[in-house]
Amino acid sequence: MLRLVVLVSGHGSNLQAILDAIADGTLNAEVLAVVSNRGDAYALERAELADITTAFVPLKPYREAGRPREDYDRDLAELVASFDPDWVVCAGWMHILSDPFLVRFPDHVINLHPALPGEFPGKDAIGAAWEAAHRGMIMRTGCMVHVVTSVLDEGVVFATAEVPVSATDSRDDIEERMHAAEHVLLVDVLRGLADRGEES
Ligand code: GRF
Repeated sequence: MLRLVVLVSGHGSNLQAILDAIADGTLNAEVLAVVSNRGDAYALERAELADITTAFVPLKPYREAGRPREDYDRDLAELVASFDPDWVVCAGWMHILSDPFLVRFPDHVINLHPALPGEFPGKDAIGAAWEAAHRGMIMRTGCMVHVVTSVLDEGVVFATAEVPVSATDSRDDIEERMHAAEHVLLVDVLRGLADRGEES
């Protein structure tokens, strides 16, 4: 069984997709803990409803104490490592992880990003795709699951899915289509890892 710690910052629909797949027996995995950098993340409520251990680890106290973000990442890694996960899954985690975190889980931190490799890196990938679609520059965007490295939204790509877009789409249209694609893609990747017995 794949042992997962899921990092979240927001709504948690991707976390929910993982929990639903586990609950209906189509994903042989266990979510050991859900960790958020935001106290108001609805993802935490989803985890609590599923009886999963949660932790809220804010960056603010580190900032206020003038401590570098590497300290935060090191402490976060310590907490995550205490659950002994096979994989750390960033599912809507809006915080760039630095080396002090990544060295604790080499090549075993994966991230879901709402764009295809090399396209729309960074924060508002869906907004950027919507603008490009609106200008008639693209007919599709997509999403990917990739291994996290210290370079933003790069690292080995495990899987991608295309999401069609058109100039008449609203941002909500694209967002809705994107999320539907992400839920399938993320669970598929985890299923693949579980099936291949890639626990370590
Ligand atoms: C997703 O689009 C993910 O790709 C991005 O943030 C969004 C999170 O959605 N990084 P949710 O919190 O899983 O609903």
